[in-house]
Amino acid sequence: MKNVLVIGSTGQIGSELTAKLRSLYPGGNIVAGYIKGAEPKGELLEGGPCAEVDVRDGSGLAAIADKYSIDTVYNLAALLSAKAEVKPLLAWDIQVNGLINILEVAREKGFAVFTPSSIGSFGPETPRVNTPQDTIQRPRSMYGVTKVATELLSDYYFNKYGVDTRSVRFPGLISHVTLPGGGTTDYAVEIFYAAVKGEDFACPIPAGVFMDMMYMPDALKAAIDIMNADPSKLVHRNSFNIASMSLDPEMLRKVISARIPAFKMHYELDPVREKIAESWPDKMDDSCAREEWGWAPAFDLDSMADDMIAALRVKLG
Ligand code: SER
Repeated sequence: MKNVLVIGSTGQIGSELTAKLRSLYPGGNIVAGYIKGAEPKGELLEGGPCAEVDVRDGSGLAAIADKYSIDTVYNLAALLSAKAEVKPLLAWDIQVNGLINILEVAREKGFAVFTPSSIGSFGPETPRVNTPQDTIQRPRSMYGVTKVATELLSDYYFNKYGVDTRSVRFPGLISHVTLPGGGTTDYAVEIFYAAVKGEDFACPIPAGVFMDMMYMPDALKAAIDIMNADPSKLVHRNSFNIASMSLDPEMLRKVISARIPAFKMHYELDPVREKIAESWPDKMDDSCAREEWGWAPAFDLDSMADDMIAALRVKLG
């Protein structure tokens, strides 16, 4: 990896991944791709090249790939799960038609492609605990439908055309730089903001509903390590289960209250998110990622909570 295009660089993952890649590969072009209305600002804008890239425009993408001699594309353009239920056809257009455009350009230009999958690619029939790497995937949400299609298309282009596609199934991501938006796991980020601001948190997910979660530094490490992995060791490609913690709202309440005793939370359930959350794994089995490319997370619940609260205290004054 040297010349990398991050599509969706102003989003929750993209903003931090772009900065991390720029620090790791100072001699390369790490291009922050954005769409109109989500332009990069500050460090993201000033720290390296930026380019408008809409995944629905393959020729625009090909021009940027040529201009910067792109060898790797991180395709992070997506509508998250709850938002995709409001605009299912737009989600399909961005996540599936957009990916086909990218893969077609990748065939021609020879760059590698990372398109994240998610816990959302599983459904109610999937084993919830220790969800295997290879198992039933019958999601009910449009987000999940697009993620399964994404995994299959990525493997198809690898097997048929040799496009170097690799990816991971991200858990809900907890981070403090850029807020997620429209996801089912967003509550696990918002709860920290509310706690640090001294607000009473209205939790949309019921107590006892567990989902895989991960702290952003581990997610970035996974996204970079999988693209640098020795391809001869990869039995799987799209996409690897990766896991670090399995949480429900009460576990988060407890870990936050231990650090911010005045923290208050009550439940105001969101039926759309509740139904989606109940259909997702509690805890994925990530042994294939560990064996095939050495995946290992660094953060657990306590170290994540310490770091999140400290960072948000600085950020929110
Ligand atoms: N964080 C995503 C969502 O909640 C799942 O990958 O939609």
